[in-house]
Amino acid sequence: MKVLVVGSGGREHAICWKLAQSPKVDKLYCAPGNAGIAQLATCVDVKATDVDGMVAWARDNAMDFVVVAPDDPLALGMVDALEAAGIPAFGPRANAAVIEASKAFSKELMRRYHIPTAGYETFTDLDRALAYIEGHGAPIVVKADGLALGKGVVVAATVDEAKQAAREMMADKKFGASGSTVVIEDCMTGPEVTVLAFADGEHVRPMPASQDHKRAYDGNCGPNTGGMGAISPPPQYTPDIARRCMDEIFLPTIAALKAEGRPFQGVIYFGLMLTPDGPKVVEYNARFGDPECQAVLSLLDADLLDIFLACREGTLDQVDFRWKDQAACCLVLASGGYPLDYQKGYPISGLEDAGRSAMVFHAGTKSGEDGELLTNGGRVLGVTALGDTLEQAINNAYAAASLISFTGMHFRTDIGRAF
Ligand code: GLY
Repeated sequence: MKVLVVGSGGREHAICWKLAQSPKVDKLYCAPGNAGIAQLATCVDVKATDVDGMVAWARDNAMDFVVVAPDDPLALGMVDALEAAGIPAFGPRANAAVIEASKAFSKELMRRYHIPTAGYETFTDLDRALAYIEGHGAPIVVKADGLALGKGVVVAATVDEAKQAAREMMADKKFGASGSTVVIEDCMTGPEVTVLAFADGEHVRPMPASQDHKRAYDGNCGPNTGGMGAISPPPQYTPDIARRCMDEIFLPTIAALKAEGRPFQGVIYFGLMLTPDGPKVVEYNARFGDPECQAVLSLLDADLLDIFLACREGTLDQVDFRWKDQAACCLVLASGGYPLDYQKGYPISGLEDAGRSAMVFHAGTKSGEDGELLTNGGRVLGVTALGDTLEQAINNAYAAASLISFTGMHFRTDIGRAF
């Protein structure tokens, strides 16, 4: 089969790495890809958000299957457009991807179907939002309704901070139209875990749980990022909690979306908080999380293409797949200054040595004029190692990462240990 993966980050590199292992994949393409992906797939110069361009390229080049990985093209209806053109595609249609694209929609869905989550109200009027914050008090969470590159959530410790966040989103349009509506939530406490799950509209098969580290600096300090590292599985996600999540959250969510005429086919991301009152949903996403995907897919002991095809065909309950009985740790190596201003274009060294004991997934890299590897983004590389215990996986990932260097390289030294 000729398979096209849409996207260009560490997540897409990990997906391409697994798909390249499938005997059914004869030729792999990635649009737009990056320098690491180019070692496994032919990179195609079409932007991930260019729906018409992607459909035209996939049709003209006779793709048999397209995997749409990032949130934006899913929300823009790329899967709908591909399927309408007769090209089978993996990922939710826009009417199901809305669980990520609109926080107001997902909160309303949870309220209607009694899926545990924080109490909340939705606002389109700034004065009413400010009055609600004043009356509620802090801590309180302010969320932009739409997609905001993972930056549209403010956990405010004070009323003033919450009001400022609401003003920036609703009046100053910090996130454009994404902040015209805000969701204001009660603050939950407890460890956060991510569960990614395959879904075929009817059935749901959770992957091993994982845990992202969203803050830039050690000790969970500093600004929020797209994710500075992930482990899988996190020790807090016990079998008992997993059962509760399945019964109280995963199955009811898939059933709710089906009942609403929005069957979810793809990977659904459950962002969960393990509160003293039990597990609750922090957020849904309509795709693999990144860097969680890099850790979790490293544990998959099966043909990923078979699973993707089953999600689309509604036969997920019939596929036999297993996970390695190991742990994984992914460390993100970032450009100095990320997630604020940073420089790019620096040469990267040590990948071959690191690659002997770990998978090194590329996020922001490109090839220079002489073929040398250069930094080309905030998150540059994800170094993912396995171990028989979580501690071993963490040590192996740090040992491999110590072999890599580029000017300004920044990484957290407490991934898997910052709790
Ligand atoms: N790592 C968080 C996310 O992918 O949304």
